[in-house]
Amino acid sequence: MHTRYLGNDRLAVGAIGLGCMSMSGVYQDPGDEKESIEVIRRAIDAGCNFLNTSDLYGPFTNEQLLGRAIAGRREQVVVATMFGLLFDENGVGYNGKPEYVRTACDASLKRLGVDHIDLYFQHRVDHDVPVEETVGAMAELVSAGKVRHIGLSEAGQESIRRAHATHPVTAVQSELSLFARDTEDGILGVMRELGIGFVAYSPMGRGLLTGRWRRPEDLAPEDYRRTDPRFQGENLESNVGLVEQIRQLAEEKGLTSSQLALAWVLTQGDDIVPIPGTRRLRYLEENLAAEKVVLGADDIRRLEELVPKGSAHGDRVGDMTMVNR
Ligand SMILES: NC(=O)c1ccc[n+]([C@@H]2O[C@H](COP(=O)([O-])OP(=O)(O)OC[C@H]3O[C@@H](n4cnc5c(N)ncnc54)[C@H](OP(=O)(O)O)[C@@H]3O)[C@@H](O)[C@H]2O)c1
Repeated sequence: MHTRYLGNDRLAVGAIGLGCMSMSGVYQDPGDEKESIEVIRRAIDAGCNFLNTSDLYGPFTNEQLLGRAIAGRREQVVVATMFGLLFDENGVGYNGKPEYVRTACDASLKRLGVDHIDLYFQHRVDHDVPVEETVGAMAELVSAGKVRHIGLSEAGQESIRRAHATHPVTAVQSELSLFARDTEDGILGVMRELGIGFVAYSPMGRGLLTGRWRRPEDLAPEDYRRTDPRFQGENLESNVGLVEQIRQLAEEKGLTSSQLALAWVLTQGDDIVPIPGTRRLRYLEENLAAEKVVLGADDIRRLEELVPKGSAHGDRVGDMTMVNR
């Protein structure tokens, strides 16, 4: 697999990374842990060495799973995890307080079974704590050798600039797919101006672009996407119609809609690293093959005519306080 470089400090990672979230029941049931561990190890063998988790996933169990999967292979992987987004009895919570950053990092290191985190993200900016204070604490973790690089997730332009002025930010992690292109309005420009890499999460639209979920009842009763506006009622019907058009174009090229969706993300810039999520070996292989896909200008034009920017139906997440903080 080709290497891409994130940020001015040029963190080297495989061009396609692996999101581990769905392995811990965030969408459906956690699935088969044995297969999830095989997925991670097969990904590493294929050069897909950038592995993304968060203390939120599980919560906590996803980091433990990743730790078990990479045991004995630490030198071959680039481990990214996140802190600061919590769900409790009061709903969504954010914590960017310096003392919390230190505690959260130590706990993640322990769960992952590693002595440093390669890329540590603030999962969401905490508007009650100046970002300089949070990033200041993250910079201290770098000085202490517990963290190598820092990042922000779903941060707004102002937060990105202020954070980067405090300590160099290696990457911002935000949603990017044919169905989620709002980072093109400003955030991506700021990142490029400052030399910050882009980790593209949910590159297959949280699974929508795979064409696997076509009716609301295709989602398991506990699946969190049942609350996602894009998977509901008429929105889902319209979105599935768009995916069908993508599938037809993909078929002409001997690809699946998942592969075409991933290949499109890869064409958006060498500073962008998508992290598709899967807990199945067969999907991993399918997704990694997208790295070899060559899309010409005509393919891109046809694809973007079929799904122009903003054509997905429904907000990209139910709770819009979750984005661009
Ligand atoms: N920073 C943030 O706030 C944030 C938010 C969301 C996600 N993320 C990160 O981004 C990663 C990926 O995002 P995501 O999981 O939300 O969405 P995604 O990668 O767009 O889609 C994942 C979904 O598609 C399914 N899938 C994957 N490949 C497939 C294929 N080839 N054919 C059919 N189905 C396929 C997966 O099913 P199976 O799991 O059953 O294989 C899973 O349900 C996460 O793991 C997480 O690390 C970060």
